Amino acid sequence: MKTLPHDFLWGGALAAHQFEGGWNAGGKGPSVVDVMTAGAHGVARRITDTIEEGTFYPNHEAIDFYHRYQEDIALFAEMGLKCLRTSIGWSRIFPNGDETEPNEAGLQFYDDVFDELIKHGIEPIITLSHFEMPLHLAREYGGFRNRKVADFFERFAEVCFTRYKDKVKYWMTFNEINNKMDVENPLFLWTNSGVKVEPGENAMEVMYQTGHHELIASALAVAKGKAINPDFQIGAMISHVPIYPYSSHPEDVMLAEKSMRQRYFFPDVQARGYYPNYALKEFEREGYQIPILDGDDEILKNGTVDYIGFSYYMSTTVKHDATVNNTGNIVNGGLANGVENPYIQSSDWGWAIDPVGLRYVLNRLYDRYQLPLFIVENGFGAVDTIEDGKIHDAARIDYLKTHIEALTEAVTEDGVELMGYTPWGIIDIVSFTTGEMKKRYGMIYVDRDNEGNGSMERMKKDSFDWYKQVIATNGQDL
Ligand code: BG6
Repeated sequence: MKTLPHDFLWGGALAAHQFEGGWNAGGKGPSVVDVMTAGAHGVARRITDTIEEGTFYPNHEAIDFYHRYQEDIALFAEMGLKCLRTSIGWSRIFPNGDETEPNEAGLQFYDDVFDELIKHGIEPIITLSHFEMPLHLAREYGGFRNRKVADFFERFAEVCFTRYKDKVKYWMTFNEINNKMDVENPLFLWTNSGVKVEPGENAMEVMYQTGHHELIASALAVAKGKAINPDFQIGAMISHVPIYPYSSHPEDVMLAEKSMRQRYFFPDVQARGYYPNYALKEFEREGYQIPILDGDDEILKNGTVDYIGFSYYMSTTVKHDATVNNTGNIVNGGLANGVENPYIQSSDWGWAIDPVGLRYVLNRLYDRYQLPLFIVENGFGAVDTIEDGKIHDAARIDYLKTHIEALTEAVTEDGVELMGYTPWGIIDIVSFTTGEMKKRYGMIYVDRDNEGNGSMERMKKDSFDWYKQVIATNGQDL
């Protein structure tokens, strides 16, 4: 019988900046996302120098969870969620990032949210930094180019761990720490690291330099967290888009193998506590100067993670002799030899729909790290239409159903240790890559459009009742 463990964490996932709103409420400072305008599929979001008057910034109000958290959490409870993955807005707690004392109003807000979740029997799963470093740290310190920012992050982590030690058990340090490997798209280094690459700089070298400081920050935070509460489970969080070889041509297979290092480099360090040889060879070959200080080896060794959290949306494919990069996709872009996979259909935003890929990555990650895994994002971004006051999101249900089947096989047939599943954007939120509202993932619809119009009213989609039944039957009734 294909049964998931009885304590399997069924939930939903969100990120502070994409749904909270209240961007300057309760003493919150601006974050790197607060200067990002709206874009669209194929149209990049602009990063503005200041907050420009008259420019629309979709994350400023987002879906106003800040003022509606009780109503929203009641809906999550009605759906039967056992956990909710969300993040703490770093600049709510440290508005500039370099203060010595935290902002009490910000801390209180998360106390209120966590209490409300716990009251409804929903376990909070918390990412410390989900793309939202205080803007001041990016502007004045150069973000994670600067080692001091690792210390600021450690202080932020310590404050959160201490304050919420009896309310939150499961943590992750940085969201999708590895997505900035795609240095072609400035969005990723900006939101992950508060970094803009200057003309004349080698973007990969900058990425590894700032990445080193983030790995140090993550390890320092893990060690601090364990000292505060030894029961904490602190994980890595990576974006996991597997890269397939286009054919059985040995060069395609080798290229896919090498390309996968883009996905593995960060978790390799976070899980093992040291740099992998392929990276050291790359630094040597390319002449990259990585700011590794005496004692860093110890820090990395003492701050390894307990589990691997990851997002999975799609797979991608490489061909050693590809002449045209036709992936046309900014999330898995940056692959010089990326090509379309002829066996896989894509969403309207060009994201390949590949449930077997989920079982494949669960196996690859588990074999590599022998650590518990947690699927903390997975979902289908699509346009929803209201017909007779209802939203029949059959394509979303189909996507989720096939992915749940795949994860169930990985657990029940392959023996993968999987902690839980939190589909992305359980309620409609602002898209990260495009800033749009119309790219919807939620099982709860929010009346808000790309330009910020709408009543913000919430409405259940067909997927709401479907997922409720999935949870109630522990994944048996799909
Ligand atoms: C992940 C991020 O990359 O993908 C989320 O962790 C993001 O923040 C999600 O929202 C889906 O991407 P998008 O661009 O469709 O919102």
